[in-house]
Amino acid sequence: MKILTILGSPRKKGNTATVLALFEKRIGADHDIERINILNKAVKGCLGCDSCQKVDDQPACVQKDDFMGIFDKIITADLIVYASPVYVWDFSAQLKALIDRHYCLVKWKNRDNNTNYLLEGKRTALLSTCGGSAEKNADLIKEIFSREMNYLHCQIVGKYIVPFCTIPEELGEKARKTTHMMHTDIMNSFIV
Ligand SMILES: Cc1cc2nc3c(=O)[nH]c(=O)nc-3n(C[C@H](O)[C@H](O)[C@H](O)COP(=O)(O)O)c2cc1C
Repeated sequence: MKILTILGSPRKKGNTATVLALFEKRIGADHDIERINILNKAVKGCLGCDSCQKVDDQPACVQKDDFMGIFDKIITADLIVYASPVYVWDFSAQLKALIDRHYCLVKWKNRDNNTNYLLEGKRTALLSTCGGSAEKNADLIKEIFSREMNYLHCQIVGKYIVPFCTIPEELGEKARKTTHMMHTDIMNSFIV
């Protein structure tokens, strides 16, 4: 199984990176893991030009940044983990730019009600860390993730929030429990 993880935090050794690394260590023993650190990539915001809608079977974008390389990996992965800190109840700006660019993966124009979903059935998961509680705080990032993945016709395996994060050294049991749950859910999602 090919698992692609996307770290959306600008802090490469922060809370999100630490929990994600623990997950990668757990699941990496049995599966291929590849990580993209969004901070190392140039991903501009979507221009809303709809050029991508003129091409039916490829992501296609007029902006020549790191987008294409990332989408090649997204399309060929069996499962994608989107990892982000909660920033103002939402994704980090860096990951939000990439998520907006997912617009090109649903081909809805000129298809006579026959929309083409390039990520149809793809398994995805959300991992998020935040300073506050999960309730009335990280509920929004979970909802945005659900709506986006439903729009893309992806299959959500799980949405995992690590609340009350301070520093990576203090994540302890919270990180272990979360990554254990992620591992179990993901493995179960591949059992038919
Ligand atoms: C710009 C900014 C906005 C934030 N907004 C929220 C928020 O809305 N809710 C929350 O609980 N924590 C918020 N936090 C705290 C982070 O979500 C938290 O510290 C997180 O674990 C940081 O992850 P990282 O170390 O991977 O960057 C915010 C932090 C920053 C820097």
